[in-house]
Amino acid sequence: MAVGIFDSGLGGLTVLDAVAQKMPDVPFVYYGDNLHAPYGVRDADDVYNLTTRAVERLWEEGCDLVILACNTASAAALRRMQESWIPENKRVLGVFVPLIEALTERHWGDNSPPREVAVKHVALFATPSTVASRAFQRELAFRAIGVDVEAQACGGVVDAIEDGDMILADAMVRSHVDALQRKMPNPGAAILGCTHYPLMQDIFQDALGPDVKVFSQATLVADSLADYLQRHPKMIGPGEDSMFLTTGNAVKVSQRATQFLRRKVVFEQA
Ligand code: DGL
Repeated sequence: MAVGIFDSGLGGLTVLDAVAQKMPDVPFVYYGDNLHAPYGVRDADDVYNLTTRAVERLWEEGCDLVILACNTASAAALRRMQESWIPENKRVLGVFVPLIEALTERHWGDNSPPREVAVKHVALFATPSTVASRAFQRELAFRAIGVDVEAQACGGVVDAIEDGDMILADAMVRSHVDALQRKMPNPGAAILGCTHYPLMQDIFQDALGPDVKVFSQATLVADSLADYLQRHPKMIGPGEDSMFLTTGNAVKVSQRATQFLRRKVVFEQA
């Protein structure tokens, strides 16, 4: 009955937490590729190879459906995986679309032509490779017209979070917000386009000011997954146990995860 949740490291825990709260009866298997994080500075082939390896491992744990709780993998690898790699009886879904649907006031599966939406100026904060992929702008263009997007590649933030250096992460977030505001002084909304960033959401909000609506993915992905599983109940795979797997140092990763989620989390070696 399990569903797989994948991230390059700890960021996907923000999504895991939200989906586990929303669907307490579904076992989730989390896979953090901490050994190879950050993905945000890797090229697309590298991200594809690492992501497919992780997804195969989650299939081995009985997770027929895997959520890429990683924007970098969703942006750089998902389309290629869906086009030629994923077998008929398995599914891999990304985290971009639920976010863009929320921003453009759409319900799931609304494929009507792009239209004007309330928000006109959007700040996108993401990893360098997500920004370089322009996947966000592409998905947005399918749904909305007249939205000006300014993207800020937030180099270094994921490394600081993975290292548990929250003081450095705080300073880097503020400097990236500052850089963004020099390009777009008054964004109407900000997108946290990396699943690590909700761990710094208060800092983003503080630096952006109270008038900027900050969209982050965890609850949006949880709602969208609950809806998907209702429509496709067979996609809950045969796995029965929740577990946390990491390619990194299981003791260190467990400590950081426990600190972030404020509950005991024990990782096993992937
Ligand atoms: N948390 C991931 C994302 O959403 C990955 C960040 C990284 O590994 O650079 O993009």
